[in-house]
Amino acid sequence: MSDDLDALRGETADALAAAADLRAWDAVRVGTIGKSGRLTGLLKGLGAVPAEQRKERGAALNRLKAELEAAIEARRVALEAAALEARLASERMDVSLPPRPHPPGGAGEGGIHPISRTIEELTAIFGAMGFRVAEGPDIESDWLNFSALNIPDHHPARQDHDTFYLPAGADGRRPVLRTHTSPVQARTMLGQEPPIRVIVPGRTWRADHDATHSPMFHQVEGLVIDRGITLGHLKGCLIDFLRAFFGIGDLPVRFRASYFPFTEPSMEVDIGWNRKTGELGKGGDWLEILGSGMVHPRVLANCGIDAREWQGFAFGMGIERITMLKHGMPDLRPFYESDLRWLRHYAADPLAPPSLTEGV
Ligand code: PHE
Repeated sequence: MSDDLDALRGETADALAAAADLRAWDAVRVGTIGKSGRLTGLLKGLGAVPAEQRKERGAALNRLKAELEAAIEARRVALEAAALEARLASERMDVSLPPRPHPPGGAGEGGIHPISRTIEELTAIFGAMGFRVAEGPDIESDWLNFSALNIPDHHPARQDHDTFYLPAGADGRRPVLRTHTSPVQARTMLGQEPPIRVIVPGRTWRADHDATHSPMFHQVEGLVIDRGITLGHLKGCLIDFLRAFFGIGDLPVRFRASYFPFTEPSMEVDIGWNRKTGELGKGGDWLEILGSGMVHPRVLANCGIDAREWQGFAFGMGIERITMLKHGMPDLRPFYESDLRWLRHYAADPLAPPSLTEGV
């Protein structure tokens, strides 16, 4: 008499086991305990069962119903778990894969401008030597741009700088667009006690315009003030910097006597290159790359530093110039033209900042 129930139990179990996904599972569920499912049909037929068998039959049907509902639910849980497993397996990511280039196809949109990139590189290299970054304003007093740096009125160096002057202030003196980053030497010495170790990247201005000069350009100044600082420190520091920046471990570096009003002695620094091919590091020719020297005692005195106790060195170089040399750029003007083709070619990846261990 319960043969039909045993058959339903067995067939439902088989159908559930065969249901490979939730769609097939749902068909089994509907066909069994849905509105017109087989079990539902048997329950509905209970009324037609003779009264003396009805109680027993009803109890058996209810047990079967509970059993089948539990089996159907268990199969759903198993199928959902299997689906999740499959998805996790197919979407697994390999965190050891190298990153894709960003942005795709180059570093144009969102890329780092080569001037900014060079400043990041300078900061990384000098930062590792214990320098911090100092800044100053573009509009300077005549005193800080010139006089404090031992360039008095009527000094010929004032003419060399092709200075942009602004209208005179209350003191009758004309402020200038700073012609070099050197006034930040004075600002730093006036603003803090030695020892000092700063670099000063920033905009500078001179009335000059051709393929290698722009009225606005960038320099980086360096200043070290401490006890017992010698020319040897200057040379070691700059040789290390130039070799790290250009990525040439044996780059030839030459120090040549020169003149700046604010350093004594003063030296131009040249690096070895091949004039014909533009290749750096070999070829037997020399290229002037920056100015440097021991800070003049009069500059120290102007900035309130006792030259008997403290010595130092300073240097200044053009950021466009070293960037052009490093990347073989022939012309300076595109730096400021925002031509996307040029930017895509030269911009740096924002997600790959300079790293000393990998070379800047
Ligand atoms: N200020 C100098 C220039 O603009 C560079 C320089 C800086 C030289 C510091 C010596 C020391 O040419």
